[in-house]
Amino acid sequence: MQLTSVLTTLTLLTLLSTTLGIPLTPRDVPKVTIKNHCQTTIYLTSIARERHNNATIPASSSYSEALYYDGITGTSLQITTTPSGLDHGGPILNAAYTFNKPANSTYYSLSTVDGRGYAFEGQLVLFYADRDTKGVILWEPGKERSTSTRAFLGGETDLVLDVCAMRTL
Ligand SMILES: *[C@@H]1O[C@H](CO)[C@@H](O)[C@H](O)[C@H]1NC(C)=O
Ligand SMILES: *[C@@H]1O[C@H](CO)[C@@H](O)[C@H](O)[C@H]1NC(C)=O
Repeated sequence: MQLTSVLTTLTLLTLLSTTLGIPLTPRDVPKVTIKNHCQTTIYLTSIARERHNNATIPASSSYSEALYYDGITGTSLQITTTPSGLDHGGPILNAAYTFNKPANSTYYSLSTVDGRGYAFEGQLVLFYADRDTKGVILWEPGKERSTSTRAFLGGETDLVLDVCAMRTL
């Protein structure tokens, strides 16, 4: 085989594997969408057993990623108001989820990290399963916040975290 055709084959294989890689996150995989209705950029670090994605979510925009699980404690979406806020002591809003297979249920919860404050005082924050808007976790301005967990009993579902939401559902 000539060198050029070897290279062509390799290129083709690379292209194929790139293409074949796509079904790992097919369209029907449930996703979580983070809506940033704040007037400032927020930052996401998505963590399960280890750190996964980092995302910068500018004001008035949203970001989605497929739900994933690689540990036994579920997955945590850690929201900060500064880049690398996780590593620099700023407030962390923690939206976590897990899927309980025997119960065929999705659990989701909202919390802060002790001792690191809260960055969304005076704002509305919602975390919910988009197929069950009655189970919304609602943190309202001026009301006490506490770690809240809800279950969606209908299998897997898309989730939505709306930070500085305009209104309740
Ligand atoms: C996300 O950012 C953290 C801190 O800067 C870094 O350690 C980590 O490798 C980043 N993860 C990815 C997937 O880029
Ligand atoms: C889980 O619940 C969904 C929604 O009700 C249903 O379609 C699915 O079949 C259930 N899966 C199992 C394994 O029971």
